[in-house]
Amino acid sequence: MDLTKSETYHQTRRTMPTLHRIRTEVERLRQELTLHNHRYYVLDDPLVSDAEYDALFRRLLELEKQYPELQAPLSPTQRVGAPPLAAFTQVRHSLPMLSLGNVLSREEMQEFQERLQRFLKNDEPIEYVAEAKIDGVAVELVYEQGKLVVGATRGDGETGEDITQNLKTVRAVPLVLLPSHPRPLPARLEVRGEVFLASAPFRQLNQERAAAGEPLFANPRNATAGSLKQLDSSVTATRPLDLFCHGVGQVDGMSLASHWDLTQALQAWGFKPVPQRRLCGNLAEVFAFFDELQAQRDALPYEIDGVVVKVNSFALQRQLGEISRSPRWAIAYKFPARQATTKVLSIVPQVGRTGVLTPVAELEPVGIGGVTVRNASLHNMDEILRKDIRIGDTIVVERAGDVIPYVVKSLPEKRTGEERLFQMPLQCPVCGAEVEREAGEAAYRCTGLACSAKLKESLKFFCSRGSMDIEGLGEKLIDQLVDKALVHDAGDLYQLTQEQLASLERMAEKSAQNLLAAIDKSKTTTLPRFLASLGIRHIGEATAKQLAEHFGTLAAIRQASADELQQVRDVGAEVAGSLAHFFAQPQNSQVIDKLLAAGVVFPAVAARRDGKFSGATFVLTGTLAVMTRPDAQKRIEALGGKVSSSVSKLTTYVVAGTEAGAKLEKAQKLGLRIVAEDEFVAMLQE
Ligand code: IVH
Repeated sequence: MDLTKSETYHQTRRTMPTLHRIRTEVERLRQELTLHNHRYYVLDDPLVSDAEYDALFRRLLELEKQYPELQAPLSPTQRVGAPPLAAFTQVRHSLPMLSLGNVLSREEMQEFQERLQRFLKNDEPIEYVAEAKIDGVAVELVYEQGKLVVGATRGDGETGEDITQNLKTVRAVPLVLLPSHPRPLPARLEVRGEVFLASAPFRQLNQERAAAGEPLFANPRNATAGSLKQLDSSVTATRPLDLFCHGVGQVDGMSLASHWDLTQALQAWGFKPVPQRRLCGNLAEVFAFFDELQAQRDALPYEIDGVVVKVNSFALQRQLGEISRSPRWAIAYKFPARQATTKVLSIVPQVGRTGVLTPVAELEPVGIGGVTVRNASLHNMDEILRKDIRIGDTIVVERAGDVIPYVVKSLPEKRTGEERLFQMPLQCPVCGAEVEREAGEAAYRCTGLACSAKLKESLKFFCSRGSMDIEGLGEKLIDQLVDKALVHDAGDLYQLTQEQLASLERMAEKSAQNLLAAIDKSKTTTLPRFLASLGIRHIGEATAKQLAEHFGTLAAIRQASADELQQVRDVGAEVAGSLAHFFAQPQNSQVIDKLLAAGVVFPAVAARRDGKFSGATFVLTGTLAVMTRPDAQKRIEALGGKVSSSVSKLTTYVVAGTEAGAKLEKAQKLGLRIVAEDEFVAMLQE
């Protein structure tokens, strides 16, 4: 750049009113973040990395903090953080939010069509849009000039509750709409849709609640409703809710001709329409869609409970109008129920990997949606008491997606007087050790150190596909290996011989060979996988990955103090405590050493590349007063830097303690950046 130009540039920068310049930057950041949010949450096709997004987000936060006059309620930073409400206010819907009639068979669908044709006095084929019926909670979002003004529940259809703060935490709810040609934004747009919680986060939420002794949600829909009813939106923000849109209320200034066009316009403005939808020329096509969707139902990541069939043309919809609070032009064609009633034959406590006793109801076998259900988890004692489930009770069970069958409720009106209350045993049903309940915990645990049930469960976990992935080493074999005392811990798996395996039931020579090969193959793994396989409480795959990236080696993780562990992203006091406790136990260390000695290997993970010391090489010299050298090295590596023992022109920093000698001299000669210990400590804390 030539000097004069650069001068002018700086001059403008200086003379341009600061606030104006900042305002421009803030506007630009908001636009960019809105775009990235849409790419990530709506299109599932991000343009930038999480780190780049975070950097933009932090910059915006910083500017808004520094210039409070620039804060705005629809800024991407304002999805969370509103103060808790005392109560929700009521919102009247401009057009009532109707409900839908239901049908359960093709015959009834046929009758629906005949009603339409009679009403229209015309038996030409009708074009429909068939869409998945999302099992969530209906909401309405109101936009004026493309900006979100209110979000509300359905309520009684006429009046709902203002849950704007909570809906703003849902990433799929656009705060500001995207302009789109050739579909100009209506001046006022009321969008309707279904908020839902996907099955995986639902299960996780319930697991957390079970562990904390809190009441469980019966299904994802209840969890969604509970999350949207929070007066404190920071609670809602912890639930990864999502939204699919399926219609509109009042719209000022729109010229769309059909529901199909509407779904496309909604998509262009930044919403997610229901992904499973099809334009159908006749009922046969609707039936084909219904069958396809039902076949996919269990594999979908969220719950659907049928297909909504809508007349496509808006002109026809208007002509058809509504009847008894339901549109005449739409119907819910429901899947068969996945609930059934049956009897509790007994309740059996099962001992899990961590020693927790889970009461499982053994049921009179009952078919639900094509599967025979024989037992269902009752989770814990608190749940049994809360639902008042007794041995001999008639109960309602639900099978939802891949979720374990779930006891919804008991039916006390069906009791005969023969029912018995369940009690947790005082002794472990497997090893006889004492069962105890820690204060404040919902779970009862077996205290037996050598409980074979715990061992079996932890071995099953260790060998499973998501863990060490030992093909062919399943439940039955593990039970035998433990029962025959061939295996006492995971380390023993790698000492098994051909003869030992061949001695097991239903194990031919060839399968024994295959199993040995599979065990051998599992020895080469990755550090996160290995860590997660150990079944340490609170350490799942994601946390294991963070730990591995932070520390690089297993040795570093084993040595880390609880404080050091807490430097890792997502690791709080509880997780750090659990890790430190695990590694502090000699039995666990022995098993790990045994595994390593048997040849289990994993390449060290490259230390985090995006730390604040990424790319920097440090040399430590002299005596450090505040921390030891190994500690300093760990801290540097944790922040992405490298430590080298010799000074060269590639060295970024030389940390000089007292009595630093030759290395310091060389660093001075090379003109390297030399930092004293206190300066180094300040860098770490920055
Ligand atoms: S269209 C008159 N489409 O199901 C309402 N609704 O049982 C027209 N729902 O209140 C709604 N998925 O909250 C429509 N793809 C979908 C839907 C859907 C779920 C909900 C909606 C409605 C309820 C009726």
